[in-house]
Amino acid sequence: MEKNKYKSFELKHFLYTFKRYPILITKAKGSVVWDDQGKRYLDLFSGLAVCGVGHTHDRVVRAIQKQASKYLHVSNYYYTAPQMDLAKALTGRYMGSRVFFSNSGAEANELAIKLARLWATKNGKRGRDILTFHNAFHGRTLATAAASDGKNRNNSIYEPLPKGFKALPFNDLTKLKAAISSKTIAILIEPIQGEGGVNVASGEFLKGIARACKKHRLLFIADEVQCGLGRTGTFFSFEQAGVKPDIVTMAKGLAGGLPLGATLALDRVARHMKPGLHGSTFGGNPVSCAASLEVLKLLTASQLKSIRTTGRILKDTLTGFQRYPVVKEIRGEGLMLGMELTCPGAPFVDLARKKGLLINCTKEKVLRFLPSYFISRKEIESAMKILDSVFQTLVPTIEAKR
Ligand SMILES: Cc1ncc(COP(=O)(O)O)c(C=O)c1O
Repeated sequence: MEKNKYKSFELKHFLYTFKRYPILITKAKGSVVWDDQGKRYLDLFSGLAVCGVGHTHDRVVRAIQKQASKYLHVSNYYYTAPQMDLAKALTGRYMGSRVFFSNSGAEANELAIKLARLWATKNGKRGRDILTFHNAFHGRTLATAAASDGKNRNNSIYEPLPKGFKALPFNDLTKLKAAISSKTIAILIEPIQGEGGVNVASGEFLKGIARACKKHRLLFIADEVQCGLGRTGTFFSFEQAGVKPDIVTMAKGLAGGLPLGATLALDRVARHMKPGLHGSTFGGNPVSCAASLEVLKLLTASQLKSIRTTGRILKDTLTGFQRYPVVKEIRGEGLMLGMELTCPGAPFVDLARKKGLLINCTKEKVLRFLPSYFISRKEIESAMKILDSVFQTLVPTIEAKR
């Protein structure tokens, strides 16, 4: 299909929700994808942080094939081995928790919100308020949209939204403490904001949240949908601050490329859940769970260490880009990194793609890097060479116009 036909196809057959790039992907392996013209791209976007273990990892694909040959779906009215094995493996990574499987990050967060309200009801709390943060992104269902930064998401169009969310400045403990009232039941945070511009919550802030939750009897909810599952070099990113949230949500890379969400809740919250209070037809699909088990097996302690090392190499290289006057700041942890520019990032993303490198831009000016955990040093070097040539081409023109 010719490039100019993509847009008309989009407008004829799809609801126009995504500004898709005019390439048709036909194959993907590890950190490389190919389009229908045979063009090869180094992928530092990983399907929006989903292919953490790389595209079509052999072990994940084999697990999918093996499970698919047995059965695809039987419903949550019966036990299945992949779901039981995964529940054991995942709760084993978060001691004292129980899990509910869904299909996406938004669903995982939706349940976190329900659980907080359920817990509040059972604990005689009169209020319903969940404190959230500016630039947060928790999903696109009505409740998760309400919990996200409305200014950035056209939330007003979809009103009325569920009530009970109050957004506060990120990393501001004083304002957080001042905002806690008798109506507050929980604090919901992405330990590293992804869509909001790769903003890292300081260890002090996360510890402060944990202390405030203990003092005021609130629930600490961590949205690890993007920053969890090893991406920052620890299985959960909040581990680095030494905190233990009551509810943790996961999705994205959990099943190596298949849809799967998970909400983990510590027993003091989980014990209130009873049959009929929540459910999902597809949640915890056996094929997704079988894939996820392989992903968890791949995330060994030495692999997590290697993510930290690779992340440091990539961050150091990106820091070198500060020689270009348009680069304001490099931030992030492990393999979740952002480069804030002083100008729009879209032309950088476009030219990089034309030169064979897939990256992303969020919050208009933040280039985002979410490579596979298994990306090689050689691939990072090649990617950074391409990125450098993009900067060499674009920066002089941008500077000349200023
Ligand atoms: C931190 C965070 N939470 C929730 C979501 C929503 O996940 P999903 O698109 O799978 O519903 C996202 C998606 O980008 C996310 O980054």
